[in-house]
Amino acid sequence: MKIVVAGKGGVGKTTVSGTISRALARAGHDVLALDADTNPMLGVSLGVGPEETDLLVAVRQGLETGETEHERSTEGFVERFGRDAPDGVRLVVASRIEQANPGCMCCGVSPEGLLNELESEGKIIVGDLEAGIGTVMRLQEGQADIVLVVAQPTAKSLNIARRAVEMTDDRGGRVIVIANRVRDDEDLAVIREAVGECEMVVVPDDAAIARADREGLAAIDVDENSPGVKALVALADRLAAMAVPA
Ligand SMILES: Nc1ncnc2c1ncn2[C@@H]1O[C@H](COP(=O)(O)OP(=O)(O)O)[C@@H](O)[C@H]1O
Ligand SMILES: [Mg+2]
Repeated sequence: MKIVVAGKGGVGKTTVSGTISRALARAGHDVLALDADTNPMLGVSLGVGPEETDLLVAVRQGLETGETEHERSTEGFVERFGRDAPDGVRLVVASRIEQANPGCMCCGVSPEGLLNELESEGKIIVGDLEAGIGTVMRLQEGQADIVLVVAQPTAKSLNIARRAVEMTDDRGGRVIVIANRVRDDEDLAVIREAVGECEMVVVPDDAAIARADREGLAAIDVDENSPGVKALVALADRLAAMAVPA
């Protein structure tokens, strides 16, 4: 199963991607977490730590300076640009490369293209996409089974969320809106009004999640019982039920 996480910058895509990846892996699933952001920080939200995350990103960016050897196969890609993260998650950095060598598997392929290439049978791929509506526009059939659209109760984030939901609906794809950092009923009502009658999961504004980011830790390692983390673990359970049995 392929899950992608989309939305405006700063709404919580990486937090959602990292936390559900860890929760799915804890539930026994084989999880590949794909970091497609141009500023790849998924390692931090997975609990790999800022230094190790930087090292992995440097390998990816080494393609631009010639310090990293090119790689032709998808398996090689997962090997060379990836590392193991806690709970058995495999993290792979697939951020876009400037001056990519077109036709080259490791740097010429777009993150969406890589989603096409990766074999998802028997595993769950979680793709933390680049911010904005562009990634959702470029998504094609077979690249995602479920689109998680993260939204906050702010006008700009809701504009992107609404368009992402409409686009995914038009393609006949399955979409779940994550109403993130919800403080009260009013926040929730604003999000509900913007996205309409689609499937929605509410994640409250959570001090443990904010603290995790400040300390460079995974939220699930800071407090797995905090309300926001619990909501994301419950979402992972729901997603797992749609996937192959663990
Ligand atoms: N539910 C939440 N409660 C509190 N802080 C949150 C919540 N979700 C995200 N954040 C914080 O918001 C900031 C942006 O989150 P991040 O996941 O990096 O967003 P994105 O990947 O969309 O840019 C981070 O500091 C993160 O800790
Ligand atoms: Mg991010």
